[in-house]
Amino acid sequence: MAPADFPANKGLLVALEGIDGAGTTTQLERLKKALTASGREVHLTREPSDNFIGKIIRSALTSSLKDDKNHLVTLNDPAIALLFAADRLHHLSAEIEPAIKAGKIVITDRYYGSSLVYQGALCGEDWVKELNSRAKKPDLTLYFSLPVALAAARREKRGAPQERFEEEALLADVASRYEKLYAADPGAIVINAAQSVEEVTAACLKAIERLLA
Ligand SMILES: Nc1ncnc2c1ncn2[C@@H]1O[C@H](COP(=O)(O)OP(=O)(O)OP(=O)(O)O)[C@@H](O)[C@H]1O
Ligand SMILES: [Mg+2]
Repeated sequence: MAPADFPANKGLLVALEGIDGAGTTTQLERLKKALTASGREVHLTREPSDNFIGKIIRSALTSSLKDDKNHLVTLNDPAIALLFAADRLHHLSAEIEPAIKAGKIVITDRYYGSSLVYQGALCGEDWVKELNSRAKKPDLTLYFSLPVALAAARREKRGAPQERFEEEALLADVASRYEKLYAADPGAIVINAAQSVEEVTAACLKAIERLLA
């Protein structure tokens, strides 16, 4: 199906998932550009969100969260899992659902799949699933599958400081949880993220087109 044939005004939620360095952020603007060129309205977003709870989480992930006396605060893993779930429910009602209602394709860089695998690895999957049971199911999840070593090499090349949850042992566990989760999910498409940036964009667009057809 040619992109120009996309049916108009069907609001959708598409989630991009994958271990750190898999390349989800690289694809966001590229997908928006291609879909906008075919006449669709696209809303890009991410989790942790850019709202106030998301900002607390981002500070916690970069070990820069401070209390009102300007002292660094370390949150424990279950507290972070709860913040992710709270951020998600607020993100949904304040940003994602209104955009879907307006007929936009919402593409989120990470969603509850990330909580299931990262917070699931650290706090227990059943509890994290329960915490997220009220979050809307995405219409499509694009899972960027990439060997842990290749993702590590990409992160090293990117050069940003290491965040909490980016240790190799945890990421190996997270990767195997991701593979298991999406092998059994009919709402997910596995994208070979080892391909070139252009090939990954094409694979993502193909999956979105199929959904819109
Ligand atoms: N298909 C690709 N081939 C080669 N390099 C890539 C590809 N996609 C992304 N990269 C590079 O890999 C690095 C990580 O990509 P990116 O930041 O998009 O990953 P990410 O999945 O968003 O990571 P994080 O989860 O840590 O935010 C970047 O330097 C990016 O330029
Ligand atoms: Mg990213």
